[in-house]
Amino acid sequence: MTREISQTVRRVNTVGASNLILETNRLRLRRWKASDVEPFAALNADPIVMKNFPSPLSLDQTKSFIGGVEAHFEFENFGLWATELKDGGDFIGFVGLSIPRFSAPFMPCVEIGWRLAHKYWGQGYAPEAAREVLRDGFERVKLLEIVSFTATSNVNSMRVMEKIGMKHNPAEDFDHPNVTDGHHLKRHVLYRLTVDEWKRGIGCDRDVSKTLI
Ligand SMILES: CC(C)(COP(=O)(O)OP(=O)(O)OC[C@H]1O[C@@H](n2cnc3c(N)ncnc32)[C@H](O)[C@@H]1OP(=O)(O)O)[C@@H](O)C(=O)NCCC(=O)NCCS
Repeated sequence: MTREISQTVRRVNTVGASNLILETNRLRLRRWKASDVEPFAALNADPIVMKNFPSPLSLDQTKSFIGGVEAHFEFENFGLWATELKDGGDFIGFVGLSIPRFSAPFMPCVEIGWRLAHKYWGQGYAPEAAREVLRDGFERVKLLEIVSFTATSNVNSMRVMEKIGMKHNPAEDFDHPNVTDGHHLKRHVLYRLTVDEWKRGIGCDRDVSKTLI
């Protein structure tokens, strides 16, 4: 993805992210550390976590993924944030923004995405982190819109999209070009949230994270 394309989705150049840490009530979102490799490889190898992806990832694929995320941060000033618990510092996965690199009608775009270790599911961590990522994406990065997409079977991910106020238009469902024809993960849903919708506070009344603390 070229800088020219990425700049079509934002208003102006942004403040850098090299020393930035995002915080929520329970979570810290930060750049990646060497100590993240082991727990991230473990969750990437877990068939439950990777159920809605074509396959789990190997250790080498995990290292390459982190390298790609850090390069994305350096080039774009935003990325997929390594996410840890403030209480105890456990690495739990990632939540963040990325620029997808495949061809689809809604490109260019910036996507919000998440992947947490199974033991941390069901506690509202993903929507809690995602709300802060949206705030950073709209306020600091100055994006005009953030999208999210997933396989139609990934109901957990769609629940997070709904909790943070994103809207699904079934007319925009699409076949992911990187998934083999006929594969059960081929069909995807697309959710969107514009900066104006975010400013109007869509999703604020569903902040389950606050009720869990
Ligand atoms: C999607 C994901 C990040 C959600 O994180 P989370 O912090 O558990 O989010 P929430 O606590 O808000 O739970 C979201 C939904 O997941 C489901 N869920 C929660 N805990 C679950 C568990 N232990 N087992 C199965 N489903 C569970 C529930 O349907 C929940 O919705 P609800 O709150 O209305 O009941 C997490 O499930 C995950 O990492 N999945 C694998 C990676 C992935 O698919 N990423 C998205 C790719 S597009």
